[in-house]
Amino acid sequence: MTDDEQDRIDRNRRHFLTVATAVTGLAGVGLAAIPFLSSLKPSARAQALGAPVEVPIGALQEGEMVRVLWRGKLVYILKRSDAMVAGLADNVANLEDPDSEVVEQQPDYAANPMRSIRPDFLVVEGSCTHLGCAPLEDFEVRPSEEWNGGFFCPCHGSKFDLAGRVWQGVPAPTNLRVPPHRFVRDDLILIGQDTGAA
Ligand code: FES
Repeated sequence: MTDDEQDRIDRNRRHFLTVATAVTGLAGVGLAAIPFLSSLKPSARAQALGAPVEVPIGALQEGEMVRVLWRGKLVYILKRSDAMVAGLADNVANLEDPDSEVVEQQPDYAANPMRSIRPDFLVVEGSCTHLGCAPLEDFEVRPSEEWNGGFFCPCHGSKFDLAGRVWQGVPAPTNLRVPPHRFVRDDLILIGQDTGAA
């Protein structure tokens, strides 16, 4: 392994620990809240039990990603640039399921090369399909590695492209899952509910 690769793995591990700590903290809040569910108003109780989550996206810049929790699961919302979208066509031969043929991994409306409703927004669950670690963003383009950006799982090295499509020859067997979602407005996404046809 080169020094550069070791560096990158060390950086990813540190980043992963930060994210894991943050998510563990949030999960702790969720668990602590459960005994009080019965005392919540109906709308607050529904939210805590897994009601859809509204996420404002108007301020997101290209290449920026937000993480939200829905039903205790981490969900990534990435705003892709035109270049990021164009790059999805480059390295398809490296992918295990480029055409989203494993139907459980996405709603029908995301079974396309971008795995999304709109080209500019990717919405995927932040849970590696190997053993559930949170993949880290790695959006740097490295042509020598045929890497146009994507996600890297720090636990056992699985790789996913910017549509959440898994690479061949890694431990993760399938693409990252796309949760049900829809655009309420241009600047607002609802996670956890769709219209069936987006
Ligand atoms: S949990 Fe991601 S590669 Fe094992």
